[in-house]
Amino acid sequence: MKIVGINTSPRKGSNSRIALVKALKTAKSKGADTVIYDLNDMNIRTCQADNYCVDNNGKCILDDDLQDVYKSIVESYGVILATPIYMGNVSSLAKIFIDRLHCLLRVDTVRDKKFSIIASQAAIEPPMYEYIKNNLDITSDIFQSIGFELEDVVLLIGNDSEEAILNKKDQLDKAVMVGNKITR
Ligand SMILES: Cc1cc2nc3c(=O)[nH]c(=O)nc-3n(C[C@H](O)[C@H](O)[C@H](O)COP(=O)(O)O)c2cc1C
Repeated sequence: MKIVGINTSPRKGSNSRIALVKALKTAKSKGADTVIYDLNDMNIRTCQADNYCVDNNGKCILDDDLQDVYKSIVESYGVILATPIYMGNVSSLAKIFIDRLHCLLRVDTVRDKKFSIIASQAAIEPPMYEYIKNNLDITSDIFQSIGFELEDVVLLIGNDSEEAILNKKDQLDKAVMVGNKITR
């Protein structure tokens, strides 16, 4: 059983990445093989909208580092996306990743693979809190439309500095829960 982690935070001491690693370690303790991709350190381009994938059975024409990620996702049992909240939504790296999954829309390669989101934001109070949750719901819907089976969407709040999550047992516990549930 392979669980793939996708980190879309560019920063060192990323809270969402710390939670992702915790979830992956939990999955590993339950027998999973795990891998993490730090998209900010990879050569990844945005979707070119050339429809090559539509005419070529879901193959993306871009010969970049996301090709390895596609392979890993196809082999996997589940995928965990970690994202900071930027300007009320997922990070730009997460959006590039999601757009690049367009090639999987018409093929059946991710059918019923499990999927979870771990997001981290600074704000602790509505109204920001509410509309960000709505945006994460939309992101979850997109993954489900590709074929993934949604497991968890966890929004970690009040993380306004690097590694802030390390002092928050409740949030680290949520990461453990994500790792436990995705391996069920
Ligand atoms: C460009 C940018 C935009 C941000 N926008 C928001 C926001 O809309 N709402 C919020 O609560 N925090 C916002 N933040 C704070 C981050 O979401 C917060 O620090 C989060 O924990 C970062 O996750 P990371 O540590 O995994 O990178 C923003 C930070 C940056 C750098």
